[in-house]
Amino acid sequence: MSNSITYPGKFITLEGGDGTGKSTQARLLNEYIQANFNTNVLLTREPGGAPGADEIRELILTGDPDRWDAVGETLLFYASRRNHLRLTVWPALEVGTFVISDRFADSTMAYQGYGNQLGVENVQKIHDVTVGDFEPDLTLILDIDVARGLARTQGRSHNEDRFEKMDLSMHERMRQGFFDIAEKNKHRCVIVDADRPIDEIQSDLRAIVKERLFS
Ligand code: TYD
Repeated sequence: MSNSITYPGKFITLEGGDGTGKSTQARLLNEYIQANFNTNVLLTREPGGAPGADEIRELILTGDPDRWDAVGETLLFYASRRNHLRLTVWPALEVGTFVISDRFADSTMAYQGYGNQLGVENVQKIHDVTVGDFEPDLTLILDIDVARGLARTQGRSHNEDRFEKMDLSMHERMRQGFFDIAEKNKHRCVIVDADRPIDEIQSDLRAIVKERLFS
C-alpha cells in the first residue's frame, strides 16, 4: 500500500472528457519541463502505463458498451491503476523523476462514479483500498462542451471507442463530476478551457505548472 510518503518527483495528471486534446497537451508539457527545468520526465497514460495495465486496457476499452457494468469496469480500472502505480509511477517518483499521466483516478470518479452513476462513495471505497492517501501534486482538467468534444473524437480511426459510444447524458454527468472534483480538491486541481487553439491551452498549462511546481 501507499502511503503518505512525499516523493522527490512530482506527479502531474491531465484529466477531462473525450476529445479535449489531453494527449497532445501532455506531450507538449513533457517537452517544456524537460527543456526548462533540468528534470527527467516520464509521460504515461491510463488505462495502461505498465504491461499488465495495458492488457487490462484492451479489455476495458474495446467491444460492446454493455460488456462491463459500472462495478466490474471500476474494478478493472483500479486493477490496472494499481499495476501502473506499483511498476511505473511510484518507482519513477522515488528517484526524482516527474511523472505526467494522461488520465488517473479522477477519470474513474467522473466517468464511473458520476457518469455511470456508481456513486462517489462506492468509487471512493475502492480508491482508498487501491491508492491510499497518494494523490497528484497537480491535476489539470481540460474542459470542453460535451458535444464539441465528442465531435472531435469522430475523426479518429480506432476501436477503443466503448466510452465514446455511450450516451450524451453520461458524458454530461461526467463533465459535472470533474467540476465537483475540482471544487473539492482545490489544492491540486485547475480547470482549463480546452475549446481553444492548442498553443493557447498549452501556454496556460505551462504557466500553471511553473507557478505551482517550480516557484
Ligand atoms: P483513451 O483512448 O485513453 O481516451 P482519451 O484519449 O480520451 O483519454 O480512452 C480512455 C477512455 O476510458 C476514455 O473514454 C475515458 C475512459 N476512462 C474511464 O471511464 N475511467 C477511467 O478511470 C479512465 C482512466 C478512463
